[in-house]
Amino acid sequence: MKPKMRMLLSLLLSVWLAYGELLETDQPISVPEDWEYVEQLGPLEEVELTFALKQQNVDRLKDLLELVSDPDSHHYGKYLTLEEVASLVRPSQLTEKVVLTWLQSHGVKNCRNIHTRDFLQCSMTARVAETLLPGTKFYRYNRDGQTVVRSPSQYSVHDDVSQHLDFVGGVLRFPPKGREVSTGWAGPGRFGSNFHLGVTPTTLRTRYNMTAADVGTAANNSQAVAQFLEQFYHPADLAEFMGLFARGFKHHTEVERVVGRQGGGKAGIEASLDVEYIMSTGANISTWVFTNPGRHESQEPFLQWMLLLSNMSTVPWVHTISYGDDEDSLSTAYMNRINVEFMKAGLRGISMLFASGDSGAGCKHLAKENVFRPSFPASSPYVTTVGGTSFKNPFKISYEVTDYISGGGFSNVFAMPDYQVKAVKAYLKNMQALPPKSYFNSSGRAYPDMAALSDNYWIVSNLVPIPWVSGTSASTPVVGGILSLINDQRFLKGLPSLGFLNPRLYKLQGTGLYDVTEGCHLGCLDEKVEGNGFCAAVSWDPVTGWGTPNYPALLTALLQG
Ligand SMILES: *[C@@H]1O[C@H](CO)[C@@H](O)[C@H](O)[C@H]1NC(C)=O
Ligand SMILES: *[C@@H]1O[C@H](CO)[C@@H](O)[C@H](O)[C@H]1NC(C)=O
Ligand SMILES: *[C@@H]1O[C@H](CO)[C@@H](O)[C@H](O)[C@H]1NC(C)=O
Ligand SMILES: *[C@@H]1O[C@H](CO)[C@@H](O)[C@H](O)[C@H]1NC(C)=O
Ligand SMILES: *[C@@H]1O[C@H](CO)[C@@H](O)[C@H](O)[C@H]1NC(C)=O
Repeated sequence: MKPKMRMLLSLLLSVWLAYGELLETDQPISVPEDWEYVEQLGPLEEVELTFALKQQNVDRLKDLLELVSDPDSHHYGKYLTLEEVASLVRPSQLTEKVVLTWLQSHGVKNCRNIHTRDFLQCSMTARVAETLLPGTKFYRYNRDGQTVVRSPSQYSVHDDVSQHLDFVGGVLRFPPKGREVSTGWAGPGRFGSNFHLGVTPTTLRTRYNMTAADVGTAANNSQAVAQFLEQFYHPADLAEFMGLFARGFKHHTEVERVVGRQGGGKAGIEASLDVEYIMSTGANISTWVFTNPGRHESQEPFLQWMLLLSNMSTVPWVHTISYGDDEDSLSTAYMNRINVEFMKAGLRGISMLFASGDSGAGCKHLAKENVFRPSFPASSPYVTTVGGTSFKNPFKISYEVTDYISGGGFSNVFAMPDYQVKAVKAYLKNMQALPPKSYFNSSGRAYPDMAALSDNYWIVSNLVPIPWVSGTSASTPVVGGILSLINDQRFLKGLPSLGFLNPRLYKLQGTGLYDVTEGCHLGCLDEKVEGNGFCAAVSWDPVTGWGTPNYPALLTALLQG
């Protein structure tokens, strides 16, 4: 095409767009049903937006992560400091200049940077935000007393800046619905009785072969839970829980550090669950709680937490998170960028564990045919995703089978990473009864990676012991605590942390894990799949991953190199 012609075309295009360039064209635009409209924001009310600046060396980041996470590489465990990560990904001077000039030309002055300089957080009035991002109009919404400010319509940015930004946070995405942590007994019909053993720290430590001596001792070890759904844990609940249930092994009864806003009011079951159980398997290890980062109603708490990690040079080695959203409700630009943030963490030797979700394969109802519905970040290739199991015999600490709620499946967005190709292909090949091919994308990243018990936990919330709490929000901190203990033993030997575990986990091919081979999880309730998703099988499967931890064996396998 002749340059003149091209210019004319692009001129026409920009006139047609009128506004500039859209950054998140595939972001579904709608207000989720559970959010109720309150009012339009006054022109002088403040909004706080997060600008994701284009980073440098993203491809190198990916290669480096592969090297430091591959146990057969000479670079295994040679992690980077936050400064080193910053010097890799820091946006170019041009990018910073263009974005700042654009902001300043709109009178936006109040911006804060983070250490890696790849996010910029700016506050401005709604009027300024609406001219800065043509297409936006900010409204206030309410869900159960929590308010957020969002503009649920496509936004664009000036042509000149579009190539310097990945997305703008605080505009489109609403906080997802909290996963219903189930607190009901599945019903007498299921086991023919109203009684169940229940899972306590003792149950877990027995099943996973942990002795009283298996507690943390290294001085510099630490672990964290993060949660974003306006839930709080109460220190008094934790103390009572530990007193009641954590018998026979040394443990902490207090959280070392709370980062973020610990609101008042009633404790949340999910928040109590996370902290009580990471401190039961990861016993005697210093524990942090990241809670509802993001003070402003126009911020996205999950995104705020990611910023926080890149703005703190010392953070815990293991993070467990029971949070997720439907993959199809998020833009590719957003998810790709969150993946880069996970890579940045992995390069620093930090392990990120996400719950696989509580709806099995999930289901998206389409006009003609249904499809399974993966969840993100569970479907990210750069995190370790944890599914759920139950005891086959609920009265005996023994053999585990699939918990039918255990989230799992195949991403529709991210390609299958190399580390899992062999395992996943073997499953697809050997499995006799797979769901119809149209229900899932067999070339996508498959999850979960491993699992743990997720059924019938005891917790203490608002000073009351509560039985029958279930979900992968339970199994994830249990696995997190166990990885923290392995880190602890590694530190004592002078070895680096486990970091991004998956490349090493898949090389183990199940060593150190109890393989879960029975049961199927939920899928679509339609004639074709009749409520089923995938089924567990020998070796890796998209329901329980490689299986559940046998602590001493897993420790042995992960204590070299
Ligand atoms: C990042 O940390 C620095 C120094 O602690 C602080 O001044 C800055 O405001 C932080 N950035 C954000 C976005 O919170
Ligand atoms: C773990 O526990 C099982 C069952 O109690 C036992 O057979 C096994 O020897 C224990 N140790 C290891 C390393 O598997
Ligand atoms: C608990 O951890 C501390 C270090 O944080 C260590 O000094 C102590 O020995 C540990 N306790 C036990 C029983 O191992
Ligand atoms: C399947 O996943 C790949 C990435 O792994 C993607 O490129 C492709 O578009 C997906 N197909 C469908 C139908 O979603
Ligand atoms: C943790 O401390 C031990 C000594 O207690 C040291 O050998 C090890 O290198 C440290 N590990 C990290 C990751 O800082």
